[in-house]
Amino acid sequence: MSKIILTGDRPTGKLHIGHYAGSIRKRLELQNTDFDKMYVMIADSQALTDNFSNPSKVRDNVMEVALDYLSCGIDPKKVTIFVQSMIPELTEYTFYFLNLVTLSRLERNPTVKSELKQKEFETSIPVGFLCYPVSQAADITLFEANLIPVGDDQLPMIEQTNEIVRKFNSLYGDTLKECEAVLPENEKSFRLPGIDGKNKMSKSLGNCIYLADDSKTVYEKVMKMYTDPNHINVNDPGQIEGNVVFIYLDVFANDSHFEKYLPEFKNLNELKEAYQKGGVGDVKIKKFLYNVLEELLTPIREKRQELENNLDYVYDVLKEGSKEARVVAKENLKKLKHAIKIDYFD
Ligand code: TRP
Repeated sequence: MSKIILTGDRPTGKLHIGHYAGSIRKRLELQNTDFDKMYVMIADSQALTDNFSNPSKVRDNVMEVALDYLSCGIDPKKVTIFVQSMIPELTEYTFYFLNLVTLSRLERNPTVKSELKQKEFETSIPVGFLCYPVSQAADITLFEANLIPVGDDQLPMIEQTNEIVRKFNSLYGDTLKECEAVLPENEKSFRLPGIDGKNKMSKSLGNCIYLADDSKTVYEKVMKMYTDPNHINVNDPGQIEGNVVFIYLDVFANDSHFEKYLPEFKNLNELKEAYQKGGVGDVKIKKFLYNVLEELLTPIREKRQELENNLDYVYDVLKEGSKEARVVAKENLKKLKHAIKIDYFD
């Protein structure tokens, strides 16, 4: 079976280290494996479903997200990076898929449900927003993607996509392929909490460390990080559970970091044990985390600066990627229309 990988992000803000842990890292790994095709989509149309009154925000962030991708090392020679709205075939797919989904099924989608609650739409839910899982099913199936690297919050979308695929195939004949999510191996990467330790890292909560943050900002954010409120004196026993510094270390630190920046401990387990016993101060673990993050972020930051001085190149990557994706989209839309028997003049 062919391996077609597709994933994407809504351009509503710069990407943060939660995105890196949850998805970018996996994409970087995947782009060096054997596959037939890999797409990364900037989901501007989906972003408009809850930002329709603020198109400039979406537009500006298309570029920010593209800069983030390229600075992290997503390689346009291996991966087709494209902009969702540049592929009008997606809206046709979505339109035909809407027939295959019920309102109650959409309202039951757990991710949509929690987003609706968060946005306080109450009873005036925009239909476009409610239907974005259907458009996401189009994103995936139009490109015949079967491997979808995402965080676990996207599992309901994969499930809904596969339901649409099965329904479509049962009505119109075997046309579409089912897909599966590719989740990060480290469970803690799923939902990196924000520096406040309360919620998932999210722009609206102001608790993010952005990939584009400068050194000083990263340092300040790490120093503000939530640890263990009962760990007041260095010698007090400290808690690991819910301690944001340790959650981040679990996700980002490896043994070589210890060798370089904290040689008195061999690995994270040793540090955890010592912290729990008492005798390790918060400033020490925070400085260590800062070094670990800086090792990751410094090259990304440098690459970003270089690209910011060469925005024409970034536009070209998006334009070329979208052109390439469009060729596939046109071809596959023909098959879809044939299956639905609306290919009158072919
Ligand atoms: N819903 C995804 C997010 O919020 C973005 C997205 C849109 C996506 N289309 C997709 C992800 C297709 C995977 C596959 O991050």
